[in-house]
Amino acid sequence: MKQRKSTIFVTGGAGFIGSAVIRHLLDHSQAAIVNIDKLTYAADLSSIPQTNENNPHYAFHKTDICDGPALRELFTHYCPDGVINLAAETHVDRSIDSPREFIHTNVVGTFTLLQEALRYWRRLKTRSQATFRLVHVSTDEVYGSLADDRPFTEMAPYAPSSPYAASKASSDHLVRAWHKTYGLPTIVTNASNNYGPYQFPEKLIPHAIIKGLSEQPIPLYGDGLHVRDWLYVEDHARALSLVLERGRSGETYSVGGRNERANKEVVTATCEQLDHLLPPTNGPRRELITLVTDRPGHDRRYAIDPSKIERELGWQPAETFESGLAKTVRWFCENRDWWEAIIERGYKMKRLGLIRQA
Ligand code: NAD
Ligand code: TYD
Repeated sequence: MKQRKSTIFVTGGAGFIGSAVIRHLLDHSQAAIVNIDKLTYAADLSSIPQTNENNPHYAFHKTDICDGPALRELFTHYCPDGVINLAAETHVDRSIDSPREFIHTNVVGTFTLLQEALRYWRRLKTRSQATFRLVHVSTDEVYGSLADDRPFTEMAPYAPSSPYAASKASSDHLVRAWHKTYGLPTIVTNASNNYGPYQFPEKLIPHAIIKGLSEQPIPLYGDGLHVRDWLYVEDHARALSLVLERGRSGETYSVGGRNERANKEVVTATCEQLDHLLPPTNGPRRELITLVTDRPGHDRRYAIDPSKIERELGWQPAETFESGLAKTVRWFCENRDWWEAIIERGYKMKRLGLIRQA
């Protein structure tokens, strides 16, 4: 699929999903990409290898999406055809310890981006106004824990449990309000848990791989039977590119891989993949799995029904959970430099998000 020559802003492009989106667009489209990222602890520009040699289709700006004047300059300078907003604070455990940053970036930042996008969009010619899109990337966590057997659709009511989920829910509401009230052509996507190369090691799968590699205890919260619906990050990147190109203004699209798994199954499968690639010295790695204190407010189950994006945009995930996990485990084994540098920069692989009683 080749897109017309256009300029796309990707906010949060140095993060896990943002970098996958940029890699995808640079490889599969003619679009010029402008990566707008504040470079928090979660960012790593080396996650976009195609940009190492001054790629003429790529520009980077170290910019905070809460900085309206800086965003205004970028809109004026580049005249983008679309924006994919992935700039966010994203880890539930961190949001329990320090919610302020989540409100700041996810709520105030999205508001600021919407205001500057609207200001820019209003000055466009009618034809460009019609084709402009702002795709806001969100999560299934905004719906809270699934109440019954049916997976979330685009119609599911919002009931966020964590400060992270509440901040993302707020941002989704802002995006829809800017469409309804001001006519800004926005689209919201709600995706399930992503996994794959270049994921920051605070998240379950890379955390388990890195602990497993050094044969240290692998923490499972609570009884380990919480269910998530896993989506390989490159499948998500392809979905977002399709939504940007062909998604209908004002719509919502749910993106999921139809891969519901209990956390215990996920971590056990990760250990088995590791054992297969690098035989352990002290018995099977699944024996390292250790139940630990549960996360406060821990949602029991998420699952996404992706029928709408499949039907309307012809999107299908290319990876099963088994094939995606095998690729992911292999990638972390073969790219130790990438995650060892994160640990050298000061990430301690320590438990976060436990509320301590006074
Ligand atoms: P991430 O934490 O890996 O990356 C976030 C990026 O945003 C980082 O590069 C960071 O520097 C940047 N950023 C943070 N605050 C910023 C600010 N104020 N201004 C500019 N840049 C800023 O996150 P991710 O996992 O890639 O998630 C991206 C988006 O996708 C988020 O909105 C998240 O809610 C959503 N999402 C994530 C998942 C998942 O499983 N990871 C699933 C569904 C939806
Ligand atoms: P996580 O990767 O933090 O994503 P999210 O909270 O956005 O779903 O966690 C995924 C699931 O794994 C969640 O149910 C919490 C659980 N979990 C563990 O059991 N152990 C861990 O070390 C981590 C990081 C998460």
